[in-house]
Amino acid sequence: MSAHPQLKSTSGAQAEAAPVRRIGLLTGGGDAPGLNGVIRAVVLAATRLGWECHGIRDGFNGLLAPETCIGPPVQRLGAVDVHAIGHLGGTILGTTNRGNPLRYPGRGADGAPVETDRSGEVVALCRARGLDALVVVGGDGSMGIAQALHAQGLRVVGVPKTIDNDLDRTFSTFGFDTAVGFATDCIDRLHTTAHSQHRVMVVEVMGRYAGWIALHAGIAGGAHVILLPELPYRVEAIAAAIAQREAAGHHHAIVVVAEGAQPVGGERAVQAGAEAGRAERLGGIGARLEAELAAATGKECRSVVLGHLLRGGSPSGFDRVIAARFGAAAVRALAAGASGVMVALGPEAIELVPLREVAGRTRTVPAAGDTIATARELGICLGDEAPGAGATGV
Ligand code: F6P
Repeated sequence: MSAHPQLKSTSGAQAEAAPVRRIGLLTGGGDAPGLNGVIRAVVLAATRLGWECHGIRDGFNGLLAPETCIGPPVQRLGAVDVHAIGHLGGTILGTTNRGNPLRYPGRGADGAPVETDRSGEVVALCRARGLDALVVVGGDGSMGIAQALHAQGLRVVGVPKTIDNDLDRTFSTFGFDTAVGFATDCIDRLHTTAHSQHRVMVVEVMGRYAGWIALHAGIAGGAHVILLPELPYRVEAIAAAIAQREAAGHHHAIVVVAEGAQPVGGERAVQAGAEAGRAERLGGIGARLEAELAAATGKECRSVVLGHLLRGGSPSGFDRVIAARFGAAAVRALAAGASGVMVALGPEAIELVPLREVAGRTRTVPAAGDTIATARELGICLGDEAPGAGATGV
């Protein structure tokens, strides 16, 4: 066992392993601000150890479908290649959410879409390229892939990424803070137009099946209503909260709705259903609520979708720091012989947690948690109960 003194392992996953000389690095799934910071940290830390670092383009497609890549599908990266990229959004390696090796999209003999497990090919292709280990930067899907590759004998360390903050076993993923900051700025701007025109503004934010972005941005931006996937809502409860504000002399309201929110007994808004190699695409709940609230309140309502704007732009200072810490810790973990683990933000330090405890899980907002309690205590309507006395917000 060769644990690194600066890494806390909650897994016991470290084992004696052959020394690392060459690693692969890829970013998978939706992009998030901070990915370039991780790439930079991995490359710089690996180079200091004398390792070669090879960037794989467009997630696993750089290995499985190199002909689809713009530019070299696999490229050696040195310090010069990652110079001054830590503050840039996106990922210099490219990414895709259509290249999951466990469910790789293709066509069957009859032309119908099929999904194939090509993870064995990934392991073989890594070996053929002399890669001793792989750093996989991604969300829950990517952590599931990383776990499967580890189970097939490849040395893998995962790095948690997503603006949605829905990965288990880490206090935060990078990208989340930047997304919340931008959404908060947008909500701030909507207050003045909503107030001036006595309107209800509905703001739809991303987050998939978790309401972290909506809850945090909603509280930070002073929203009057916040709707989360974790708490199914009733339009009547929202209308009652708006009416209560009206009666108290506040003629505008800001409603922040997570894309995955749904009414009690109703359906989520889905833009496109799941298909071979890709998950369902959420979206449209804001427009639906705009119409429903206009009918229920008689007020003028407008909706705005922040969508992919939440993924763009420069990472916040917080995200830059955890991206750097995650990337450096991933290299430290490999140097210490770890595999099958994800670097995670713990209360005090970066920790290593087993990928099997992360893969396939979604960390949702705890309904009994203190942030939800805080929202209620501030008088914010969460759509699940009639507003209490004085719950008008400001
Ligand atoms: O997981 C990140 C995320 O931004 C989700 O919040 C959103 O539902 C999804 O990606 C959108 O993905 P796409 O880029 O395919 O539209």
